[in-house]
Amino acid sequence: MDKVRVLLVEDSRSLAATYRAQLETRGFEVDHADTGRAALAIADRIDFHLILLDLGLPDLDGLELLRAWCSAEKPAEIIVITANASIAKAVQAVREGAYDYLVKPITRDRLHTTIDNALDRNRLRSTVAASKERPLSGSFCGFIGDSKVMQEVYRKIRSVAQSKASIFITGDSGTGKELCAEAIHRSSPRAAGPFVAINCGAIPKDLMESEIFGHLKGSFTGAISDRQGAARLAHGGSLFLDEICELDLGLQTKLLRFLQTGLIQRVGSTATEKVDIRVLCATNKSPAEEVRHGRFREDLFYRLHVVPIHLPALKERGDDILRLSRHFLAQFAREEAKSFRRFSPAAEHALLVHDWPGNVRELQNAVREAVVLHDGEVIEATMLSIPDSAPACQANGHDGELALDVAGLRDLAARGGAGLIGRELRDIERQAIESTIAACGGSIPRAARLLGVSPSTIYRKREIW
Ligand SMILES: Nc1ncnc2c1ncn2[C@@H]1O[C@H](COP(=O)(O)OP(=O)(O)OP(=O)(O)O)[C@@H](O)[C@H]1O
Ligand SMILES: [Mg+2]
Repeated sequence: MDKVRVLLVEDSRSLAATYRAQLETRGFEVDHADTGRAALAIADRIDFHLILLDLGLPDLDGLELLRAWCSAEKPAEIIVITANASIAKAVQAVREGAYDYLVKPITRDRLHTTIDNALDRNRLRSTVAASKERPLSGSFCGFIGDSKVMQEVYRKIRSVAQSKASIFITGDSGTGKELCAEAIHRSSPRAAGPFVAINCGAIPKDLMESEIFGHLKGSFTGAISDRQGAARLAHGGSLFLDEICELDLGLQTKLLRFLQTGLIQRVGSTATEKVDIRVLCATNKSPAEEVRHGRFREDLFYRLHVVPIHLPALKERGDDILRLSRHFLAQFAREEAKSFRRFSPAAEHALLVHDWPGNVRELQNAVREAVVLHDGEVIEATMLSIPDSAPACQANGHDGELALDVAGLRDLAARGGAGLIGRELRDIERQAIESTIAACGGSIPRAARLLGVSPSTIYRKREIW
């Protein structure tokens, strides 16, 4: 990048002089405007990389300036500055496109970290825009699939890989979110560093903070020795926070503070430590929805949601279904020492028309099961236990087996405590899960909905079994 140009919009001359001095030590070229009108005039003439905007200007509303600048063709990153009393306005500014806000008084460290992060996003936006023109084909970093929608995903992964900005990966269960996080890490300059993944949905809430930030011996019952958290272990690499929407609100605040400062603080410690990590996160929920319901902090959402990557459902990927099926067939035939080489036309048709609510993972499981349970060279349609797409758990269908299984489930429920006493909990859990899946005609996503867990929880448990 050429020399970084910064516009400082601040009516207090003394503060402006302080910020200017700090920015100039970094080699930035700084212009200063002390009114909104002066700022508009100068930004008309010059393309800035970064604008530091005090929201309390004497002549114009800071938010108006922000709106004007955000809709520019080559928008600058805007960091708004506010006094403690007007945080609501600062959050509004972030909602309308500001990168972040700083509350006065601003420490030197905080100013520099925020600016570095903002400039990183600025570079990222230009590479994403530039890469739109380049065509891309074939498989990529462990992904199989050539469809247009997947090429778009590969393109995004490539263009974000160089940056340090946080990436928010969304997509339904089994669409490849974890694979995507690994691909970003592996194509990034941090590839030689660690990739540390933690699943926010799988760890009890009260252990989560220690899991991410670590703890000191004795800081809570069970903390028998000092422990480094995932953020420290990922130093120099990437931290993947899977199922991020499961993080409780208190911890979301701490995560936001960490993202803003780069400093971690172990549970039970007052000391902080600087770490260099890139945060990747994923969810199969709609983050915007979680924000609307107050379950996910809005400012954290904007902070993480710099570049969203959405993984399309398998049924939207057209012929990729066959490419993936053939790939898995070859892989499992090799692993299981079977002679399967291809699918019959009827089997291919069945694969293409199925709904795939469990996406790639469901497809993978269906192919693996067929390979394990059968022999021969050709996978026939009848070997694939693809559940029909009848609505959840209807017992009145023509499928006798389905009705029977629901009856079995009721029976299990009716026996209540009696059949459960004296058995191991994990055994009961397994039976509850397997019976529900069977009653749902084999559909794991439907069973998950009934059991109130995410499909991935069931897939994971089944892999362990
Ligand atoms: N395009 C693809 N090509 C090859 N394998 C894939 C592809 N997408 C996913 N997979 C495989 O499918 C399985 C599920 O993928 P992954 O765990 O990344 O999904 P996920 O979106 O994280 O699922 P969940 O929401 O359940 O955690 C993995 O074994 C992964 O390697
Ligand atoms: Mg996952």
